[in-house]
Amino acid sequence: MTYSVAVSGASGYAGGEILRLLASHPDIEIRTVTAHSNAGQPLIQHQPHLRSLAHLTLQDTTPNILAGHDIVFLALPHGQSGQYTVALGDVPLVIDAGADHRLTSRDSWDAFYGGDFHEPWAYGVPELLVDGAKQRETLRSASRIAAPGCNASTVSLSLAPGIAAGVIDPSDIVAVLAVGPSGAGKSLKTNLLASEILGSANPYAVGGTHRHIPEIQQALSAAGADEVRISFTPVLVPMARGILATCTAPIIEGVTDAEIRAAWESAYGDETFVQLLPEGQFPRTADVIGANTALIGLAIDRAANRVTVVTAVDNLVKGTAGAAIQSMNLALGLPEDRALSLNGVAP
Ligand SMILES: NC(=O)c1ccc[n+]([C@@H]2O[C@H](COP(=O)([O-])OP(=O)(O)OC[C@H]3O[C@@H](n4cnc5c(N)ncnc54)[C@H](OP(=O)(O)O)[C@@H]3O)[C@@H](O)[C@H]2O)c1
Repeated sequence: MTYSVAVSGASGYAGGEILRLLASHPDIEIRTVTAHSNAGQPLIQHQPHLRSLAHLTLQDTTPNILAGHDIVFLALPHGQSGQYTVALGDVPLVIDAGADHRLTSRDSWDAFYGGDFHEPWAYGVPELLVDGAKQRETLRSASRIAAPGCNASTVSLSLAPGIAAGVIDPSDIVAVLAVGPSGAGKSLKTNLLASEILGSANPYAVGGTHRHIPEIQQALSAAGADEVRISFTPVLVPMARGILATCTAPIIEGVTDAEIRAAWESAYGDETFVQLLPEGQFPRTADVIGANTALIGLAIDRAANRVTVVTAVDNLVKGTAGAAIQSMNLALGLPEDRALSLNGVAP
C-alpha cells in the first residue's frame, strides 16, 4: 500500500527535512506541500536541495488542502497546529512537529508558551523509557503523534536510563547544550545572522526560561522520577545543524560504577538509533549529521559524585523529522527504520 502525504510548513527547516527523508520512503507518495507567506511558489525555490520534488508547488495551509490524505505532517510555528486538530479529524494519521500537542500539563503550557492549550498526543520518541517499557509500544497504536522538541528529547534520552534504574538523582540535573541555529527555524532573526553567530558562542534562554524544560520534566517523570529539577542552558554555536548536550546528575549513594553503566547498556543495547559508546569515548555532532542517530558517551565522575552524559544528535533528524518518521513507521506497522539512516555525513 502507498500512503498519500501532505506536509505543511514545507518551506521551513523541519518541513524540508521531513520531505528529504520521505522522498526516499518506498511506501509514501508526497502529494501536497503547503506554506504560509511563500504559498504559490515552487517548493524547489525554498528547498533547492530537494531535486526529486521539483515538480511540487507550495499551496496555502488550509484544512481543505491538508484533508483527504492518509498522513498529514504539521511543521508550523508553535500555536499554529492546534487549530487543525478538529478539521483533520478524518485523517488517519497526523504528526505534529510543533509543541502544541506535547505537554500534558495546562499549567506548564500557560507558563512556557501561552495561548490555547491542546490535548496531548503520543510523544514521538520511540526509545524513551516509560514506566519500565519503551514509548514505541504506545506509538504502535497511535493516530496522533507529537514529535519532540530537539533539545528536550536529547536531554531526556540522555538521562532516562539512569532515572529508570534508580542510579541518579533527578532532583539536581544540570544540562548545557551546544546547539546549531537551524533549531530556531528559517525565519529571519537578528540574533541568528551570520555576523552575530560566526566566531561566537551565544547563550540564550538562560535561567530556567527555555520552553523545552517542561517537556524534559514530563519525559523524565514518565521514566520514573518523583521530582525533576533541571538547570538548562542552551548555547548557540556556529554549526548549521547539531546538538551536543552535556547532562550531569548526582549518583545515588551506594551505587557501583558497573550498575551505572549497566543502566544505559540495558536501556539502549538493543536499539538501532540510540547508541551508547564504549567506555571513555564521547560523541561529536559531526558524527550524526544527516543521521537519525543519537550517540551517547557516559562518564562516572566520582570526584564530583556525578554522572556525565554527553549526547550528540542532528536536531533536524533525530531531534525532529527522523523522530517523526520513525514514529510514523511504528504507527503504520512498517519496519521502524524505513527511510532512516544510521550513518551520518562527514566531514
Ligand atoms: N528546527 C528544528 O530543529 C526543530 C526541531 C524540533 C521541532 N521543531 C518544530 O517544528 C516547527 C517548525 O519549525 P521550523 O524550524 O521548520 O520553522 P521555520 O523554518 O521557521 O518554518 C516555519 C514554516 O511554517 C510556515 N508558517 C509560518 N507561519 C505560519 C502560519 N501562521 N500558518 C501556516 N504556516 C505557517 C512557514 O511558511 P512560509 O515560509 O511560507 O512563511 C514555514 O514553512 C516548530 O513548531 C518547531 O518548534 C523544529
